[in-house]
Amino acid sequence: MKAEPPTLPIGEGISAALGGENEAMNRTTTPLADDLSAALQLSDPSALDALGSRRPADQRDRFATLLHIYELHTAPLERVGTAARWQHHPAVAALKQTCEAEWLSELEQLSLPGDLAEADAVDAMRALAARDRLPDIYKWLARTASWPEVVHFLALEGGPDAGFDDLVAVCQVGLSGPAKMELATNYWDEMGDGSPDDVHTTLHDRLAAAIEMPAIPLDEQPVTALARTALGGLFATNRWLQPEMLGALGLIELQAGPRCRLVLQAFDRCGAPEAAYPFYEVHAEVDPRHGKDWLEKAIEPTVRDHPDWAERIVRGALWRSAVNAAFLADVTTMLAEPELAEVTAA
Ligand SMILES: [Fe+2]
Ligand SMILES: [Fe+2]
Repeated sequence: MKAEPPTLPIGEGISAALGGENEAMNRTTTPLADDLSAALQLSDPSALDALGSRRPADQRDRFATLLHIYELHTAPLERVGTAARWQHHPAVAALKQTCEAEWLSELEQLSLPGDLAEADAVDAMRALAARDRLPDIYKWLARTASWPEVVHFLALEGGPDAGFDDLVAVCQVGLSGPAKMELATNYWDEMGDGSPDDVHTTLHDRLAAAIEMPAIPLDEQPVTALARTALGGLFATNRWLQPEMLGALGLIELQAGPRCRLVLQAFDRCGAPEAAYPFYEVHAEVDPRHGKDWLEKAIEPTVRDHPDWAERIVRGALWRSAVNAAFLADVTTMLAEPELAEVTAA
C-alpha cells in the first residue's frame, strides 16, 4: 500500500473554522483525520455531526482517521482524555465504517499463494510464517546498519508485537477451552509472568530510554506504518473479525523470534547499552514457543470446534503478513536500499 500524493481539495473543514493559515496548510496531508481530531476535542458534538458523510482523501488520511478512532476504543484514558466520550458517536461510527469498508475491500483482494490454498489452517499458517521469516532488512540491521540507523529502525518498528498484551486480551473474549487457556498463558508471559519489572511494555520503555529512541510523528512515518498500527485496531474493534485476529496474532508470534535474534546481533555489533537487550532477548527466546503453542493449543482446537473459522484464521494471518511486509519494504527503501544490495550479495 503506497501513499497517494496529497492532491486534496481544501474544502470546508472544521479545522478551517478552528485554525488559521497553518492549520489549513496542514490539512493538505490528512484533512479528514485533522478535522476529526479537532472535533473530538470539543464538548459540543455538532462539529462531529458534520463529518459523518465525509470520505478520507487518500490512504494516509484513511489510516490517520482510523488511528484517531481506534484510540477512542483502546488508548489509555489519560492519553485520549475527554474525547473518549465520543467513542460511539454516530458520526464516528459512520467514518469508521467508511474507512474500514475501503480497507477491507483491499485486504480481501489478497490471496494465498496457490500451494497453500488447499492446506489445513495450521500448515498454511506455518508455511506463511516461513515465507518471509527473515526479511532482508533484519539481516541489514544485524550486519551493516549504523547505530543511528538501528535506532531509527527500532523507533519505526516499535517491537515485534506492540500492544500485544491488550490485543491478546481482546482476542480471548468469548473463546473457551484450550484456546482461552493458551491466550491466558500468552498474556501472562506478556505480563512478565507476574513480575512487574519484566512486563514486556516495561521492557520496551526501558529499551526506548536506553537508546534514546525518538518518537516519530505519524506524518513522518510511511503510510504502511500507519496501516500496520491500525491493523490491531481493526481487529480489536470488530467482533466479527475474531477468527482473522486469531490468525494474525499467531503469525506475529511465529515470525518474531528469528527477527529479534537479528536485532540482538545488531546490538552486539554496535555495542548497545545493556538496558536495550532484555526486550529483544525475551522475545527471541519465548516467541518461538508462543508461536508453536498458539498453533497447537489455540488454533488447532478452535478449528476442530469451528471448521468454518479455518479459512478466516489463515486469511487474518495473510493480512498481517502482507501489511507487515509492505511496511518493511517501505522501511527498507527509506533506510537500507543501497547497503542492502551488499548484504544480500554476501
Ligand atoms: Fe511481547
Ligand atoms: Fe510472544
